[in-house]
Amino acid sequence: MAKKTLAQQTDLRGKKVLIRVDFNVPLDDKGHVTNDRRIRAALPSIQTVLNAGASAIVMSHLGRPKGDPRKDAVFTMNQVGQRLHELLGKPVTKVDEVVGPTVTAAAQALQPGEVLLLENLRFHKGEQAGDAAFAGQLANLADVYVNDAFGTCHRSDASMVAVPQAMAGKPRVVGHLVAKELEILDRLLSAPPRPLVGLLGGGKVSDKIGFIKALLQRVDRVLIGGAMSYTFMKGQGKGVGKSKLEADKTDLANELLALGQGKIILPVDHLVVDALDAPQTARVVEGDIPDSCIGVDIGPKTIKLYQDEIARAGTVVWNGPMGKYEDEPYSRGTRAIAEALAASRAVTIVGGGETAEAVEEFGFAERMTHVSTGGGAFLEYVEGTPFAALQQIDNA
Ligand code: 3PG
Repeated sequence: MAKKTLAQQTDLRGKKVLIRVDFNVPLDDKGHVTNDRRIRAALPSIQTVLNAGASAIVMSHLGRPKGDPRKDAVFTMNQVGQRLHELLGKPVTKVDEVVGPTVTAAAQALQPGEVLLLENLRFHKGEQAGDAAFAGQLANLADVYVNDAFGTCHRSDASMVAVPQAMAGKPRVVGHLVAKELEILDRLLSAPPRPLVGLLGGGKVSDKIGFIKALLQRVDRVLIGGAMSYTFMKGQGKGVGKSKLEADKTDLANELLALGQGKIILPVDHLVVDALDAPQTARVVEGDIPDSCIGVDIGPKTIKLYQDEIARAGTVVWNGPMGKYEDEPYSRGTRAIAEALAASRAVTIVGGGETAEAVEEFGFAERMTHVSTGGGAFLEYVEGTPFAALQQIDNA
């Protein structure tokens, strides 16, 4: 069932609009935002609300605070608020609480065109507990609820489910970002231009079992890279040396290979090193990885093989880097694959935090059809998991 969107919500003038965004952005150890992609992605909805003569009460979680005030201080929304202010070009009033009298007073004082940012929702125990009383306090702040937090849609935190539940009777819509993510992923799942190629990398097979199984039902090919390829190779009795792998998941890898009925393609060569901090020892090996070596990237023949598959594809969906791309000497495979997607005429969909960051860092993000802001949410949506958060949104 299609969900009502912010674009369809016309009467916003003078209203207070509570916008759940996903500002769960990467931070350095001083709490500075190192990648503001998710903040930029939420701007269109915030701007729509402000331009319509309404005020915006913006709320998000940030990181996984554990309840220890000293350690959690890094997860304050202060720096995020500063970045939001810079990107919006407007003042952003940031409160130091999530709910309570200060927040209520600040929300009441808010004038059309103004923005209020709440403190990290996860600083309050009620958020992850899905607490109804906590949700009620947030719900009372506003006249309209907007879910623009695609990256959090797989979570049942209070701000995602109990808040819209408590706002039943008031308009509850998805923002521009969620609407776009759903439109593109629904098209991928229903009628993708073929051949449909899945490109899977990253460390763990076990993190992505449901996603791989769901993909196998739909795709024509799955190309594997990253450390997960060593788990598949080990399952096939191939040498993987000292490469990172999930030694206890080789049966699972074999099960997936059987399920894939020849659709799964593994790397045919590898970039290996003697030690991770010794890039000068890097060399390419074909087939087995020698006992003393560590695999760090796909090799040139694999790059060519995958580039050819991508060039023939009608749709490519990519999740997970091809190697240890964060270290420049080992980034060639991930970069070459990103470039192949950018150059292809296929519909290209990139999902998952690391993959999206890599594509952006290499400067190819604008040339993809879609770079999802979802990590876990992207994987679970493609798996077909129903999201309680979306069930609370009004139908179109
Ligand atoms: C994400 O980054 O995937 C979302 O913001 C959800 O965060 P979480 O995994 O900490 O719930």
